[in-house]
Amino acid sequence: MSWKTLDDMALDGKTVLIRVDINVPIEDGQVTDDTRIQRIVPTVHEVLKKGGKAVLMAHFGRPKGQAVPEMSLGQIVPALEKCLARSVHFIDGDYGARLGELEPGSVALLENLRFNPGEQKNDEGFAQRLASLGDIYVNDAFSAAHRAHASTEAIARLLPSCAGRLMQAELSALEAALGTPKRPVVAVVGGAKVSTKLDLLSNLVEKTDHLVIGGGMANTFLAAQDIDVGKSLAEHDMTSTASDIMAKASTVGCTIHLPSDVVVAREFKAGAPHETVGADACPADAMILDAGPDTVAQLEAVFDDCETLIWNGPLGAFEIPPFDTATNAAAAKAAELTKAGKLISVAGGGDTVAALNVSGAADNFTYISTAGGAFLEWMEGKTLPGVAALGG
Ligand code: 3PG
Repeated sequence: MSWKTLDDMALDGKTVLIRVDINVPIEDGQVTDDTRIQRIVPTVHEVLKKGGKAVLMAHFGRPKGQAVPEMSLGQIVPALEKCLARSVHFIDGDYGARLGELEPGSVALLENLRFNPGEQKNDEGFAQRLASLGDIYVNDAFSAAHRAHASTEAIARLLPSCAGRLMQAELSALEAALGTPKRPVVAVVGGAKVSTKLDLLSNLVEKTDHLVIGGGMANTFLAAQDIDVGKSLAEHDMTSTASDIMAKASTVGCTIHLPSDVVVAREFKAGAPHETVGADACPADAMILDAGPDTVAQLEAVFDDCETLIWNGPLGAFEIPPFDTATNAAAAKAAELTKAGKLISVAGGGDTVAALNVSGAADNFTYISTAGGAFLEWMEGKTLPGVAALGG
């Protein structure tokens, strides 16, 4: 699919509606991670530099079509102004009247679009109201592109539309990782449940050469091989599905890698006493909380042999040390190979990015997606409505 970019649009003197995703974490009114805000800066600055007026449209949280003061985008304005290094006009009332007063070169942010029930219903009337505010629509919100909402889908059909620079970067990185990748390709998929990642695993066995399964999901795959996983988190009702995925992988030539050794503990807490045992030797009263060193060594060898890596989900209970060890070690190896120019590495998904940031490996990955749900849906092989709507 092809789509237009800012290079194809005449922006001078135009009011440019930019859909951004600034759904960022907040604690006590303070933005605790401004990555998503930083990543939209190039698009906003380019629009201004080319003579446009930038009107940012976004959502925050899930207010269900009502004005919920705690979910006002007003609280994001200071962080936005800091990242953009300029003032931002916050428009929380009658959009049209206030926007008309703004000079070219200004930046405005509309109040949380989800305060209006038309946004999530992809309502044509609400999309028209938004479209009437500007001349050009730019979608720079890949991480919201899995939602068919008025500001991500319907509006793209009403105005000359294009992808912003962040959307472009996300799409190019994902294309390089799974669309037309350099082979061999390895995917690392971790997380708690097979049931939430079925479509993803099914799609990945078809698209990759190696599939590394970690986290709680790996326990379900071990259980599918009649291995006793003790008190580990596992979905015993999903073992036949896990077997089906393994059978499909062997038919299409994808090698599935499960842990060969594991770190077990009797308590789920930081610093809990633990031991390393074979993957088939979890004591009945213990739970698997991380992959062991032999497993990590095997993964490192797989990474060494691959040209492309796509990563979603930690290998163990990374939020409670020392059960972050395997995730950190594998991430460090991926970062080292990427830095040496031997691997293209792309990662996405909320927990994944948090884990890679903590390990310090994220800076050396080729690309870290800002997306959570959209990244997963894209890895599942689904069409994202916000991307499809830009398609030419
Ligand atoms: C996200 O944080 O993943 C996006 O902003 C989408 O948010 P949503 O899941 O509430 O649609």
